[in-house]
Parts: sequence; C-alpha cells; structure tokens
Amino acid sequence: MRKPFVAGNWKMNKTVEQASLLVADLLPGLQTIEKIDRVLCPPFPSLMVISQMIAGTAIGLGAQNMHWEDSGAYTGETAPAMVKEFCEYVIIGHSERRGYFGETDETVNKKVKAAFAVGLTPIVCVGETLEENEAGKTAAIVKREVLEGLKELASSDAQKLVIAYEPIWAIGTGKTASAEQAEEIIAKIVRGSLAESFGAEVADTIRILYGGSVKGSNAAEIFSMPNIDGGLIGGASLKADDFIKICQAAEGTLE
Ligand code: PGA
Repeated sequence: MRKPFVAGNWKMNKTVEQASLLVADLLPGLQTIEKIDRVLCPPFPSLMVISQMIAGTAIGLGAQNMHWEDSGAYTGETAPAMVKEFCEYVIIGHSERRGYFGETDETVNKKVKAAFAVGLTPIVCVGETLEENEAGKTAAIVKREVLEGLKELASSDAQKLVIAYEPIWAIGTGKTASAEQAEEIIAKIVRGSLAESFGAEVADTIRILYGGSVKGSNAAEIFSMPNIDGGLIGGASLKADDFIKICQAAEGTLE
C-alpha cells in the first residue's frame, strides 16, 4: 500500500511575506488531512520561515532544486546540506529546469545521488514535450529519463524515491492528460522502467505522482487510477482552498 503524496511546487512565486500568509491560510486545513504526505516546495528564501511555521506538524518541506556538489565555487547555487537544514524533500529535474537551465539526465542522476547522500528524498520529474508526444516518442523519452536519471542507485534508496510524471504540454496550460492516458504511461513506462532497474517488488513500493494542470475539480478522477499515487501541483498550490481540496481528493482515495 503506497501512501498518497501531494506536493505543491510554488515555482518562482511568493515573497517571504506572501509565503507566510499562504502557509497561515493552509495550516488549519492541511493539518486535518493526516493520512497522506503533503509537502510544500516554496522558493529558497522562504524555507527557513516556513520550516518554523510548520514545526511540530506532519507537513513536509521541499526545495525546488539544488546542486550536487557539497560546497565550493558555484555562484548562485545551493548545496545539498544547505537544503537538508530545512527540508526533507527536493524536486529534481523539473521540466523547467531541464528546458530553461540545461539540466540533463546526467545532472539529474548526480543530484538524485547527492540528495540521498545527505538524507533528502528526491521528487524526480520526468515527462515528454508536445512535439515528442505528437511524434509518438513519449514511451522512449520517459523510459530514458527514468533509466538514466536513476542509474546506479541502490535499491534501498530507490524505494524511498518519489517520481512525478508530468507531460510538459500539460504544465500550466490547463490541458491535462486524461486520467487513463496518465495511468497508462505511469503503469507501463514509469513503473515498468523502475521494475527493469530495481525489480518489480521495489518498483511497486515507489510513489509515482501525476503533474500538469491538476486542480480541485479534476484531482479525484486522476488520483483514482491504481498507479497514480498523488500529484505535483503547480498553479493550484498557490491558492489555499485549491491545494487543500486536492489533498482531500488524495486522502479520499483511501476510503
Ligand atoms: P501546473 O504545474 O500544476 O501549474 O500545471 C505542475 C508542475 O509544473 O509541477
């Protein structure tokens, strides 16, 4: 039984002041949704304040990126141990990082290993572009991202992974893959590739999320699919009511 998991990826939104207000709005509702893992991923400047605001609750905190090196001359970067001071999770290889900042399967792999080395749980993102989707390359791209991004990981680490399948054409566009389409890619390609790398037993324990225009109104249908264990939420995670509704939909799958 995989515990449902919902993470809010705030992207480059909210000053520290705005972030504190959003967390204050989220806290009462989120605290009552106890049966799932719910995680906030705000921008770096807000991590310290939010970690204090959620201290003593079961709400998790994640960063949106980090470097793989321990320290050194990497201007503008954040080291794994710095993330670990405040967070339990880190998003790795989001399509915006791959698309705008040149991240590759190789850097994803380094970052995933670096995350586990300091005790962080990576939320690893995979997914195809519209062009790749229309050219019938979805399966090949997603499989490559899973196999290469997670290369040489120990099975004991692999079972702690969280993977997010996000078709890039569905991110922030209002278009979602249908629940059935997402289930098919997640079951066959994502979980299938995990089984190829780590064996079926480990693959069965790994939580796989769907991401891309998930909202309060479509979350329950998406999360009802047997291989979809929750969501990585962008736009809708910036509104307390919407995010809580999505978390409730994930908890509703346990009934
Ligand atoms: P969206 O973003 O929910 O705004 O489509 C999802 C993501 O990029 O993680």
